[in-house]
Amino acid sequence: MYLQRRNRILRQSPAIRSLVAETRLSPSDFIVPLFIDEGENIKTEIRSMPGYYRSSLDHTVKEVKELWNMGLRSVLLFIKCRDELKDNTGQEAWNRDGLMQRSIRAIREAVPDMYIMTDVALDPYSTYGHDGIVKDGRILNDETVEALVKMSSSHAEAGADMVAPSDMMDGRIGAIRKGLEERHFSHVGIMSYSAKYASCFYGPFRDALDSAPGFGDKKTYQMDYANRIEAVKETLMDVEEGADIVMVKPALSYLDIIRDVKNAVQVPVSAYNISGEYAMIKAAAANGWIDEDKAILEVLTSIKRAGADLIATYFAKEAVRLID
Ligand code: PBG
Repeated sequence: MYLQRRNRILRQSPAIRSLVAETRLSPSDFIVPLFIDEGENIKTEIRSMPGYYRSSLDHTVKEVKELWNMGLRSVLLFIKCRDELKDNTGQEAWNRDGLMQRSIRAIREAVPDMYIMTDVALDPYSTYGHDGIVKDGRILNDETVEALVKMSSSHAEAGADMVAPSDMMDGRIGAIRKGLEERHFSHVGIMSYSAKYASCFYGPFRDALDSAPGFGDKKTYQMDYANRIEAVKETLMDVEEGADIVMVKPALSYLDIIRDVKNAVQVPVSAYNISGEYAMIKAAAANGWIDEDKAILEVLTSIKRAGADLIATYFAKEAVRLID
């Protein structure tokens, strides 16, 4: 058989495959989500996220040092709010001495150059477990945005590098940018969860923070997974309003969206490889049904190949070890 072109030539050995690989993972691709709890010497494994923990600040600081030494350069902070501090205004979210604010300060002091991003949304602080202020069974948009502005400024004041609004209220990026400017936090950036879908795959995360919605679901603010054009609309509006980085979330069922967004914007695109995506790999691996290490690399590479410049993932540490 005579063939003019033989594609397998470039697949013959590890050497040539690595020479022509189009996508390569590196530690600086990853954002590490951290779940922080009150108290001391606490490290609780999350039931639906085997191998992932919710930790008190002392352990969290140690962890951040370790992450830094592994070459990881950014963390995304989430806190578990004590029940007695939850209400329907979210005011604990901008308490100067709240757990989030103390965490930002402690991490900044321990690892000054770590890039600190913070989750901005009311759900951990809400008695209803919703991302917004609730009235008569509805999630109020504009009142919630005002709360998010206060929350963002409070994180900035504590020393956050970038706030990450994950709530999907309309107009919050513009309002947060304006709030930061007015309070002289012009150096603080915004990573917007621009295309965040109402997904069943957030389940384990809600276990981690005890933040499941008390009534209904999040479909009046998070996007319908049937939609694609809407993701581009949302993202372009956020860029217009001042988002420095945009995000698609979840990642795996949304690789097409990541690519659409990547092609549509001129800012870095991040993707969130979320809790349910982590849990599925862990569960299948625990059953011996898939090879965990291979699955991690394949999944993360596919997210990057789809167009993500940054990936928030619970597999960051494992991935760094595997890349080495
Ligand atoms: C809530 C928030 C969620 C996640 C990040 N911020 C869950 C939700 O919207 O209910 C999910 C992260 C994950 O599942 O890993 N503001």
